[in-house]
Amino acid sequence: MRAVGVIPDKREVRMVEHAVPQITGPYDVKIRTLDVGICGTDKEICTFVYGSPPEGSDYLVLGHESLGEVVEVGAGVSVYKPGDLVVPSVRRPCPHAHCRPCSADLQDFCSTGDFTERGIKMTHGYMTEFYVEMEKYLTFVPTELREVAVLVEPLTVAEKAFAQVWKIQDRLPWVVSEDPIKSPGAGLRAVVLGAGPVGILGAMALMANGFEVYVYSRSEAPNIKSELIEAIGAKYISSKTETVEQLAERVGNIDLVYEALGVSSVSFDVLKVLGTNGVFVFTGIPAPRPAIGVETDLLMRNIVLKNQVVVGTVNADRAAFQAAIRDLGTFIGRWPNELRALITGRFSINSYKELLLGERSGIKNVIALD
Ligand SMILES: NC(=O)c1ccc[n+]([C@@H]2O[C@H](COP(=O)([O-])OP(=O)(O)OC[C@H]3O[C@@H](n4cnc5c(N)ncnc54)[C@H](OP(=O)(O)O)[C@@H]3O)[C@@H](O)[C@H]2O)c1
Ligand SMILES: [Zn+2]
Ligand SMILES: [Zn+2]
Repeated sequence: MRAVGVIPDKREVRMVEHAVPQITGPYDVKIRTLDVGICGTDKEICTFVYGSPPEGSDYLVLGHESLGEVVEVGAGVSVYKPGDLVVPSVRRPCPHAHCRPCSADLQDFCSTGDFTERGIKMTHGYMTEFYVEMEKYLTFVPTELREVAVLVEPLTVAEKAFAQVWKIQDRLPWVVSEDPIKSPGAGLRAVVLGAGPVGILGAMALMANGFEVYVYSRSEAPNIKSELIEAIGAKYISSKTETVEQLAERVGNIDLVYEALGVSSVSFDVLKVLGTNGVFVFTGIPAPRPAIGVETDLLMRNIVLKNQVVVGTVNADRAAFQAAIRDLGTFIGRWPNELRALITGRFSINSYKELLLGERSGIKNVIALD
């Protein structure tokens, strides 16, 4: 069957002939790929800076943002049946019994670094017609989310991040809402850095939680991203027209920063204006660039005197996948047009070169295999 493969040794990205996978264990599920999202990680793998094939293979099948349909299940599978829609997670545990996070199904916190990741590190991904996955790594998707469920994986970045934030802020009476279940972020101000899919989905999650949300990103408004952000009720501010200091003045006490741009210079500038008791969440993975000067005395003084927390987060656990599917259900009810507009286009697998190596713009491009 067809698959988009990266061959690091030959520095090639091309269509490969990939064997149709078969169910071998009782808990295996065979899945037909419907949608695969493309993100910056895939594009970076195509420049050969990272990404490694499984042992014994010279190619790695790309793709880690997937929606699929169950076509066959192993004898021990009780949760899924053919026809069900599922989203698979990305990271698989390391083989070491002493790795406590992996032993507890929290491989997103793997302590050895010997985890694998589908479509990224030593395990084939989903940019192909069929794949087999164990049921424990799948999450059920209701059919009403068919059109948008390819956005689950990028939304899990925010879901894991905010789960960490709630745990951190348990240290103080942060939530002021009278109905904390409904609107836990009411009265709190969040700044999202970056208006890519990770940033916009994070902004939607924060809005749904009742935060006042400001998205600070590069392009001048109006543009498709700024319009979408304003349409969900958040405010878009361009770094070309407003400095970080002006942003801080406009927002007031910044309670939370959700960084989703991957540019350290802008991020550390914004860290300078994080508010009292604020949390700054880093999700971006910057490419190495020459060192820059940072006002460390100011940052350190703020972190101490304002009780701030700076936290990084990578990947996501099962709870984050479940939360992302639940929240997509909320988003599609509240902002159906804006959520759909996040998906710029669906393309045939034959367009992989243009999508992965070209300059195709938009927000989220998707390869559709159905
Ligand atoms: N931690 C994790 O598990 C995880 C998972 C997935 C992704 N990520 C990371 O999350 C980040 C965002 O991902 P994405 O897919 O949403 O990326 P993306 O589509 O590339 O979006 C990046 C956004 O940042 C803006 N931006 C870039 N440079 C800027 C600058 N100098 N000043 C202000 N804004 C700037 C861009 O503005 P324009 O709109 O003007 O282009 C764009 O809106 C990436 O760094 C990615 O590596 C992390
Ligand atoms: Zn991705
Ligand atoms: Zn581990």
